Amino acid sequence: MAKHTIVVMPGDGIGNQVLPEAIRILDAVGFEAEYVHADIGWECWIKEGNALPERTIELLRQHKIGLFGAITSKPKKEAEAELSPALRGKGCQYFSPIVSMRQKFNLDVCMRPCLSFPGNPLNFIRKKPSGGFEEPKVDVVVFRQNTEGLYAGVEWSNPAPQVREALRTHPKFKLFESVAGEDLAISVRIITRPAARRICEAAFRHARKFGYKTVTICEKPNVLRETSGLMEEVAKEVQKQYSDIPLWSTNIDAQTMWLTKNPEDYGVIVASNLFGDVISDAFAGLVGGLGFAASGNIGDDVAVFEPTHGSAPKYAELDPPIVNPIAMILSAAMMLDHIGEQSKAEKVRTAIAAVVGEGKVRTYDMLRISGGARSLAQGAASTPQMTDAILEQLGAGVESAYAGSGRN
Ligand code: NAI
Ligand code: MG
Repeated sequence: MAKHTIVVMPGDGIGNQVLPEAIRILDAVGFEAEYVHADIGWECWIKEGNALPERTIELLRQHKIGLFGAITSKPKKEAEAELSPALRGKGCQYFSPIVSMRQKFNLDVCMRPCLSFPGNPLNFIRKKPSGGFEEPKVDVVVFRQNTEGLYAGVEWSNPAPQVREALRTHPKFKLFESVAGEDLAISVRIITRPAARRICEAAFRHARKFGYKTVTICEKPNVLRETSGLMEEVAKEVQKQYSDIPLWSTNIDAQTMWLTKNPEDYGVIVASNLFGDVISDAFAGLVGGLGFAASGNIGDDVAVFEPTHGSAPKYAELDPPIVNPIAMILSAAMMLDHIGEQSKAEKVRTAIAAVVGEGKVRTYDMLRISGGARSLAQGAASTPQMTDAILEQLGAGVESAYAGSGRN
């Protein structure tokens, strides 16, 4: 019997194209698993009025590990218009299935590695003062708190009188007291100590396990004195158990400015929800963008791994598909790390590094050409061709110049 059962949720659009490619790679590294398909996404919304059906939640509850492709979501009016006629007017409300999944299973630790593969034409390069260019190696892992902060969902337009009354207890609200209800929108930024502790502990644990030299807390405690202040306070407390790993503290605004100045200096970065979202996209942009951006949503009990990209509907119907499967395959490698199959995960990353390094097989995004059926005629590899190239590296056991993730 296979050791693991993986819940496979391809979802919508290109999710269906990239997820099977990741499974080809998992098979090739000898990962023994049984895969159970689970429905999620737009089709479920249209037919059932729920993008995350209970049966999918049950499968995740049972098997604990999920691989997820991508979903489509649409604005409120379109969502209602596409709902099957029998369900219209029955009070169905669209909720993002990813957000629901994170809340249901308290997948509060979001992990996003941003690793540059030498030879990737999309890597960030920097001009040297002496002329010429250099390509700093980026190896950053962002730990983003996934369930609270500004995305907690506690927000109002035209807040009720009791809300205004409560806000009036704060002296700073005086400035806004006379603003008319219809002109006022409020989102609450909530940070709890236990969740702050969990994300900071996850960051330090990862730094130690994978040999990163620093952890950076990226917040704004000089202005957001309460919430960012609490994040920083907790990070300092957690660091006390990791005397060998210094804690750096940066402000989110300055960090984005420094992003291109010295990205190679950073290792693990930890941040609250919105800041983590921003800084992880920013670092992902230095190492190839959406075609390379993998992530994991990790809770105590359940973990779901997914590429950062969405369903890219405009490419969903192309046959053969053209999108880059690497983000999905790297997400599958993160899953391997998570379940203790680190050497298989390293094999996958080494094979990807070899293909990228060789530069013979590149999807359209890596060629910086526009996507579409035409891109293949312009020399781009298709989705399965990229996987084939990675498989070839795995099969051939070719030694690559890439010696695992070198640490900063
Ligand atoms: P998207 O990530 O689907 O695509 C944006 C563009 O990035 C694509 O048009 C394509 O040019 C490029 N791209 C994305 N993945 C790629 C890949 N693997 N290889 C090469 N190029 C790639 O974002 P967009 O267009 O904003 O959203 C489309 C749908 O996806 C929407 O319904 C949105 O709500 C949903 N979405 C879902 C996410 C998820 O499932 N986690 C995340 C982001 C968006
Ligand atoms: Mg995002």
